[in-house]
Amino acid sequence: MVYIKQLAEFEGKQVTLKGWVANRRDSKGLVFINLRDGSGLCQCIADESKITADEFAQAGKLTLESAVEITGNVVKDERQIGGFEIQISELKTIHIAAEYPIAKKEHGIEFLMDQRHLWLRSQRQWAILRIRNTIIYSIHNFFQKEGFLQMDAPIFTGNACEGTSNLFETDFYGDPAYLSQSGQLYGEAMAMAFGKIYTFGPTFRAEKSKTRRHLSEFWMIEPEMAFYDIHQNMDLIENFLQYVIKEVLDKCQAELKLIDRDTTTLESSLHKFPRLTYDEAVAIIKGEKDVNGQNSIKSLENELAAVETKIAETLAEITEREAKIALPSMKKGEINFNQNKIATLKNDLKDLEENQRNIPGWIASAKNFEYGNDLGGSDETVITRLFDSPIMVYDWPHAVKAFYLKRNPNDERFARGIDVLAPEGYGEIVGGGERETDEMKLRNKITEHDLPMDAFEWYLDLRKYGSVPHAGFGLGLERLVTWLCKLKHVRESIPFPRMYGRLLP
Ligand code: 4AD
Ligand code: MG
Repeated sequence: MVYIKQLAEFEGKQVTLKGWVANRRDSKGLVFINLRDGSGLCQCIADESKITADEFAQAGKLTLESAVEITGNVVKDERQIGGFEIQISELKTIHIAAEYPIAKKEHGIEFLMDQRHLWLRSQRQWAILRIRNTIIYSIHNFFQKEGFLQMDAPIFTGNACEGTSNLFETDFYGDPAYLSQSGQLYGEAMAMAFGKIYTFGPTFRAEKSKTRRHLSEFWMIEPEMAFYDIHQNMDLIENFLQYVIKEVLDKCQAELKLIDRDTTTLESSLHKFPRLTYDEAVAIIKGEKDVNGQNSIKSLENELAAVETKIAETLAEITEREAKIALPSMKKGEINFNQNKIATLKNDLKDLEENQRNIPGWIASAKNFEYGNDLGGSDETVITRLFDSPIMVYDWPHAVKAFYLKRNPNDERFARGIDVLAPEGYGEIVGGGERETDEMKLRNKITEHDLPMDAFEWYLDLRKYGSVPHAGFGLGLERLVTWLCKLKHVRESIPFPRMYGRLLP
């Protein structure tokens, strides 16, 4: 069997393709079938004079998403999607699909999420999940070539790693257990056995809020390295992310184009990532420190003004075009053209209005940011909009970070945590840092965080037997896919998202 992706190897030859009907168009004596086989799309032409009457009748009855087997000649045609078309010599219907629920018109997101099992077939979703696949593959490639051992951390855990407020509790033979929030603690044990390891598995957070960044189940990549300090950790994060970005740019040109991803920021992310302390980041957010001559508050105010001008312009154009359509002299083609334009304008307007609603909130929270707090989603948005690559924020007030982080030996107010914030308003994609190595300091932190000491005794053993400086980080796969594809919401970055309010399909 030949796949559409391979057609270039079969130019001028006969092939048999199996797939689904993505579109059908009839004209006199011809049926044009857009065939989708999972590897790509290809136009196949059924010519009444070249196939049997029965086959031609079948072609004319194919509904959207019907399954077919098509044999025909491969002809080069630059104008066609994929660059080739098939002149059908044989057509077999495998299954006639019932009326397909997803039409070409725009559907609401909740409807599409309910139809996720089918929505995956549409081109945009297909492209996103292919990019996800390339990202996964290049993550493994990077760590394997760097000599890391891949390990699998348990999913049932007896202790919390990232705080107790978002644990999924379950029953483990009568005892309470939690679905893992992070493989890190097990990764630390493995790093003491193997030097450099990484986990790549599902992790769970009970987040009872609907944000565009949170899933209840997500995939995390967590490397852990013995004898690394915070700075070596940041070097690794930068090399790693740049490797993955470069692979996506190299291997996913077609998919990026399909989803209309402007890749300027991905390219500029191949330069060094700025590294800011928490103190510097806060000064930038509050508008006390500029970035390349740009002030956070002033640039948001300017943007708000620009958005408001653009909204007025868009509204005026919609009114103008609607008036045009109403004219009795309008031809059908022109009406269609204008209606399409109006639909696009209305879509743009939605985005503009969303910005108009959000920006004042961002300005207020930036101005009122209280030193010592963790960064919220809007603070991350404010600061990352000023950069054209990810930034790394390190040395955080220890009270807002996890119990396992090491203090800065020169200034005990700060813990050696690192957050990587993606540009274009995306925010946190990586959390990590250097780990506390001192048993007593860790015990105190565990008590301070009100965690059950018993469940951490095994972890504390790592500080008794050859305790060494070590560091690591966790990358949220879906957050990375979302940023690289410039998606509005993390739910489209995973085949079947699990989040507050959604368990099906
Ligand atoms: O910052 P977090 O909570 O850090 C950890 O779990 C550490 N134990 C990692 C380590 O050092 N080994 O989570 C790490 C990353 C976040 O930066 C984010 O990308 C992702 O995991 N993440 C989520 N992604 C989607 N939905 C959620 N609810 C997420 N929570 C965290
Ligand atoms: Mg974090």
